[in-house]
Amino acid sequence: MQNMPEIFVANWKMNQRHAEAASFAEQTCTLAADISSSNKQLVLCPSFPSLVDVATITSESLVTVGAQDCSAYADGPYTGQVSATMIADAGCSYCIVGHSERRRELNESPETVAQKTARAVEGTLAPIICIGETLTERNNGHTFSILEAQLNPIITALTQCQVSASDACIAYEPVWAIGTGVVPEETALIEVFSWLANYISTTDSLRTATLLYGGSVTAENGAAIMGIEQINGLLIGGASIDFQSFRKIVLL
Ligand code: PGA
Repeated sequence: MQNMPEIFVANWKMNQRHAEAASFAEQTCTLAADISSSNKQLVLCPSFPSLVDVATITSESLVTVGAQDCSAYADGPYTGQVSATMIADAGCSYCIVGHSERRRELNESPETVAQKTARAVEGTLAPIICIGETLTERNNGHTFSILEAQLNPIITALTQCQVSASDACIAYEPVWAIGTGVVPEETALIEVFSWLANYISTTDSLRTATLLYGGSVTAENGAAIMGIEQINGLLIGGASIDFQSFRKIVLL
């Protein structure tokens, strides 16, 4: 889509110690300044302890910062959880929700992810909503019903709390492509992203969402993926941990 920024999200997961995160953030500020005339937006998603530092380092730059998760609750007695408002207070503008590693490891249900999305939007964060099917689901022909089952509760939750998620991102991340080195065939990506574009066009709350792809993105395959119509950004895991590798993908 024309005029929409291309969004490059570095999802560091549980990597990057404090000093590494700070150094990466400084280098990303320089990179963002170098490409300021492009329509590319760079988002760094460190682990919670580094959020404030990375947000402070990047505060005067074009780089934006996101958290990797937020609580499904606004505030209260939820030991160990971090609210969307706290994340926004830390200087963030994005929050990843529904990553498949959390759905799998922590049994996060589509309803919980929907509540997290609503809290993120209420807390002025742009949610990066991760969706995707497993290989078994794909092989059984259930890809679209799974994506729908993940997205429908989000639409309901956003409608119920009457918040508009105009700057939301939806990241299609097939579970079988995450960290495996396997990327879907171009025809499969075209099929899913056409479906997604059509799906969001029928909604009020996610109509303007930016569509991202995630799963084994590298400097070798990034340009071809970004060449697919409807894909306006990348959610990068393993290849975003090393700055030079992230830089190569951004500069493709
Ligand atoms: P990957 O991870 O790039 O290492 O496959 C992507 C993600 O999980 O967001």
